[in-house]
Amino acid sequence: MKLNIAVLGGDGIGPEVITQAVKCLQAVEENFGHEFTFTEGLVGAVAMEKTGSPIPKETIELCKKSDATLFGAIGTLEYDNDPMAKVRPEDGLLYLRKELDLFTNIRPIKIFPALINNSSLKRNIVTGTDLVIYRELTSGMYFGEKSLSEDGTIATDLCRYTEEEISRVAHMAFKAAKKRKGKLTLVDKAHVLETSRLWRKVVTKISESYPEVELNCMYLEHASMAITMDPTSFDVILASNMIGDILSAQCNVLIGSAGLLPSASIGAENAMFEPIHGSYPQAKGKNIANPVAAIFSAALLLEHFGLHEEFNAIISAVHQSFRKKIVTIDILGSTKYGTSSVGDFIAKNIVDADDNLNI
Ligand code: IPM
Repeated sequence: MKLNIAVLGGDGIGPEVITQAVKCLQAVEENFGHEFTFTEGLVGAVAMEKTGSPIPKETIELCKKSDATLFGAIGTLEYDNDPMAKVRPEDGLLYLRKELDLFTNIRPIKIFPALINNSSLKRNIVTGTDLVIYRELTSGMYFGEKSLSEDGTIATDLCRYTEEEISRVAHMAFKAAKKRKGKLTLVDKAHVLETSRLWRKVVTKISESYPEVELNCMYLEHASMAITMDPTSFDVILASNMIGDILSAQCNVLIGSAGLLPSASIGAENAMFEPIHGSYPQAKGKNIANPVAAIFSAALLLEHFGLHEEFNAIISAVHQSFRKKIVTIDILGSTKYGTSSVGDFIAKNIVDADDNLNI
């Protein structure tokens, strides 16, 4: 298969981990006879330095004409320490999500047997965790009208949703639940927020078209406790933009490292794949960042195009690295392996795998 892939490393550890993901895609290319073309683009603080914009026009055009985008991370300490900055690196990512209309963000969360002791939870609670979060990505509080009073003492971020925006991501989540364990949990604040009540109404109506899927609705505060106390009780979680962001960050503690979880952002015409973790600016250039979330994101890219064997080959190689303890410092505390040697090991072990694996 021929694929044009836009590569946006971004800030902090983004470029380092994305280099490992590209290495793995190149191994897939060689072993499975595909033709992938990688074209780099600027985004984030690095783009602001070079062009004045966190998302230059050329980058948007590159992503639009590519088959998919591989995205690293965004944000720097300089901007984290300056919350009042008028233009921020994060604006680049948000603009890109909106412009590419990537309305569904899919975040699979699975416990890896070889890393079970890394979880912050007890083994018996976390064993068997296998859930996926479907997060609405282009609306809600992130994109509602913002205001700040002239004297700087009153601010608003409008949370707005339309039926159509809820419906399109809900269908994606129901379809996933139908193929998985048939359980969908809508997480909201329907006892407080009008937008949540609209979510419940729309999602409950849509559930009638998916009789094989059992729908549960849960308040955010309950879901947040239940994810920690009984993560195996979840299958597919559906949530608005803000709630999905928080819940998926919480899931990092289940897995035991922020460096492991990937995501796929899907729209009608575009798709982007990015690790969930941030830009971890403290680790930039130190060769210590975990490349696995970025490599898993590359695997999700392949799966998106129906390349299941290739997807399996990457997952299998990552599992081998876990079993052989060829992992970065966040996993082992002390290790001789860095970002690039873990990437090298995984890329070298990408072969035609028989196993039917999953992230
Ligand atoms: C994420 C991140 C982003 C978000 C930030 C970097 C803007 O936390 O993708 O989860 O809040 O969506």
